[in-house]
Amino acid sequence: MRLINGKTRLYCLIGDPVQHSLSPIIHNAAFEKLNINAVYLAFNVSKGNLKKAVDGLRSLNVAGFNVTMPHKVSILSLLDRIDSLAEKIGAVNTVKNVDGKLVGYNTDGIGALEALKRNGVKLEGKKVAIVGAGGAGKAIAFALAQQLEKFGGEITIFNRTVEKAVWLEKSLTETFDVKVKGLKLSDLNLKNELKNVDILINATSVGMYPSTGKTPVSKNLIKPNMVVFDVIYEPLKTRLLTEAEKRGAKIVRGVDMLVYQAAKAFEIWIKKKPPIKEMFKAALRTLKSSKEL
Ligand code: ATR
Repeated sequence: MRLINGKTRLYCLIGDPVQHSLSPIIHNAAFEKLNINAVYLAFNVSKGNLKKAVDGLRSLNVAGFNVTMPHKVSILSLLDRIDSLAEKIGAVNTVKNVDGKLVGYNTDGIGALEALKRNGVKLEGKKVAIVGAGGAGKAIAFALAQQLEKFGGEITIFNRTVEKAVWLEKSLTETFDVKVKGLKLSDLNLKNELKNVDILINATSVGMYPSTGKTPVSKNLIKPNMVVFDVIYEPLKTRLLTEAEKRGAKIVRGVDMLVYQAAKAFEIWIKKKPPIKEMFKAALRTLKSSKEL
């Protein structure tokens, strides 16, 4: 157990709900491993209390915090500075207190790219399909477009509410020099488009506990040479990933994105190499001990 004293710095999560968040587990494991005099707590902050909570965090001079639903967008107007990628995405999940100024970042998309990279997936010139244009889909699409702009590639976005996919297509093509298509999520569109796709990413909540029998993409559309990445980490292996693995595809689990987005936040705050192994161990221990999985 670390010693908590007068110099202990506070990091925290604000959101509603936060009780089941793994962020405190992951960050405290990292602080402990590197012997950093800091603690990470989760605070339930309702929509109406966001401004008061942020004012409070400023007054207390907390070192940094994460932001989760439903505040990832509304937090923007309460910050002093916003990193350019977070600004483009229009959502912040990490805030750093820099000499009293609150600076916002978004590590969700970068975390997803890091998860792919650490699993040996190369993005250069790849055709990527993202299913889902909500918060996670948007963050991944922007981070990906920023990367693909450098070395070529294509992004197709599918969403149940087609307007969001079309908006994302427009917004990405306006911002980056990259080929993007936004389509309605339908079996026919998936069938037509997935033929030449190298990387398939599920960024919807379809298949998430307790609806573990569901999948956003039917198994006959998955090819053995595809990489299939699911942002869902509960269950650790979704139906989509189980079926993809059976088809011979390479899979990347949502828990990897969860840990790498936390690792990126840790790096921003602490400016030290995050202890990835300990962060993974802590997340997996908690997920596996959850009886339902
Ligand atoms: P997150 O921040 O986790 O991405 P979100 O912003 O609420 O959460 O987005 C959820 C995503 O899952 C959206 O793309 C949503 O589609 P809509 O934009 O049409 O709502 C998608 N989604 C949720 N349930 C779905 C379902 N049953 N079928 C298809 N897509 C679904």
